[in-house]
Parts: sequence; structure tokens; C-alpha cells
Amino acid sequence: MKNILSVNNLTIQILGSQGFQPLVSNINLTLRELEVVALVGGSGGGKTSIGFSLLQLLPMAMKITQGEILFEGRNLLDLTNKQMQSVRGGKIGMVFQEPLSAFNPVFKVGNQIAEVLKYHTNLSAGKIKNKVHELLDVVEVPDPKRVAQYYPHQLSGGLRQRAMIAQAIAASPKVIIADEPTSNLDVTIQAKILELFKKLKKELNVSLLLITHDLGVVRFLADRVFVLHGGRIVEEGKAEEIFNNPKDEFTKTLIKVIED
Ligand SMILES: Nc1ncnc2c1ncn2[C@@H]1O[C@H](COP(=O)(O)OP(=O)(O)OP(=O)(O)O)[C@@H](O)[C@H]1O
Ligand SMILES: [Mg+2]
Repeated sequence: MKNILSVNNLTIQILGSQGFQPLVSNINLTLRELEVVALVGGSGGGKTSIGFSLLQLLPMAMKITQGEILFEGRNLLDLTNKQMQSVRGGKIGMVFQEPLSAFNPVFKVGNQIAEVLKYHTNLSAGKIKNKVHELLDVVEVPDPKRVAQYYPHQLSGGLRQRAMIAQAIAASPKVIIADEPTSNLDVTIQAKILELFKKLKKELNVSLLLITHDLGVVRFLADRVFVLHGGRIVEEGKAEEIFNNPKDEFTKTLIKVIED
């Protein structure tokens, strides 16, 4: 199947006491149509930073020094700010690792999802309202009309996560980047959110880049896997092959964690 996103030879540097140093180097990663690809690795290894770099949301202390990010035939690194804004949240949706940082605390959840629709679609105000309720229903939020009226902090962790997923899928993106979509949730809620992703994978016309340290999540959802360690991709392959026959020592360690 066709690649929808390809990251070629990407290097990100981070500012430390010695000046800028590589955080991750020569990253190659591809995402095909309708595929779930997992980027896995240890804590602090740079997974979130790679996800942010794709949308040019890197923190100030980091910069891309090399590589290209091809999406729909264009290198995202060549786009203007304005062009990039239509990609961010429009063609590529993101589920952030910190749900509270994705929502503004002073606006109602429904209005924030509506903002995405206002910016990225031509829907009328009335239609947008219905669409917000529809989206909350798709992510299996009970009583969407009521929940849309809540502020982010009034929602439970699980509901907030669903609302963030609703926001990410609002503009019918081609790609969703989901960064640790279950890590901040308790185990029973984790399972439900994973089921939701499985449903979305089947029902939406979307490719998912799943960023996680949890190989349990990967086993449940991913078609292919890229393993990040020491700032490099140390192993990649079909999920089945990675689990049945891991080659890299670090991959073996990650698998052992979930099998113990
Ligand atoms: N805003 C920031 N400014 C400066 N350094 C940062 C910033 N955010 C993260 N870092 C540093 O960049 C490195 C990579 O962090 P990143 O969050 O990309 O890793 P990660 O693989 O996503 O980790 P985790 O599994 O904990 O989410 C870490 O050393 C982290 O401390
Ligand atoms: Mg992270």
C-alpha cells in the first residue's frame, strides 16, 4: 500500500549545557494508508519530540537539523506557517500525551471541538453544533450534549481522552498521531480506549501513528513497529515478526516487560 507519510533521515537536536546535541538521528519511518504504525522506545528517548516535529510543534530548545517529512507529496518542512496550520489538526490530527495541555481550561469542551471544525471545514454554525455531538457519540461519550457543555477539568480522565480523540478526528484527518493515548489512564479505562481505537481504525479512513512505551498497546493495535533506542531506530518490522522474533536486545527487553 501507498505511503501516506514518510520521515526521511530526520535529525532533531536539543539544547544542553554543551550547546545543541543530537536527540534523535537519521530517523526513517513510514506510515501507509489505513495502517497503524507504532513508534516505541524508553522514557525520555525522544518519541514525543519526533511526533511534535512532524507538526512543527517542537519546544524551543529543539530543532530539526536534517531530513524531510513527506506528506501528500510535499515536504512539510518546506511549508509556510499558514500552510502548516491547515495540516495541523486538519489533515493530521494529534492526540497529545498530556490531555490537559491539549484543551484550554477556560473553554467548554464542545466549543473547543467546534473550533477545529470552524477552522478546517466549511460547515455552518448549526451543522457544527450537530457535528460536535456526533463526534462525541462516535468516541462513545455518554450524553454528548451534556458533556459538550463541560469544561475540560470537569471530565474524568477517560472522558477527557475520548473528547481529545473526538477533537483529533473532527476534521477527518488522513493521519492521527496518538502519543501515549492510554498511559495516563487506569487499567480498565485503558482497555476501553484501546477498543475505541480499534473501532476507529475499522470505521474511519485514517492512518495512525501510535507513540508508546507499552508493547501491550502495540500488540493490540499495531500493524508495523519502529523501535527507538539511543536516538536511533534500532529495529523495524511487522508487529507479528517483532513479537515472535525480536532481533535487537532493547526490543527483547521491552517485550519481556509485558510478558513478566
Ligand atoms: N520542552 C522541552 N524543553 C527541553 N527539553 C525537553 C522538552 N521536552 C522534553 N525535553 C527533553 O527531551 C528529551 C526527549 O523527550 P521526549 O518527551 O521526546 O521523550 P519520550 O520518548 O516521549 O519520553 P516519555 O516516554 O517519557 O514520554 C528528554 O530528555 C526530555 O527531558
Ligand atoms: Mg513522550
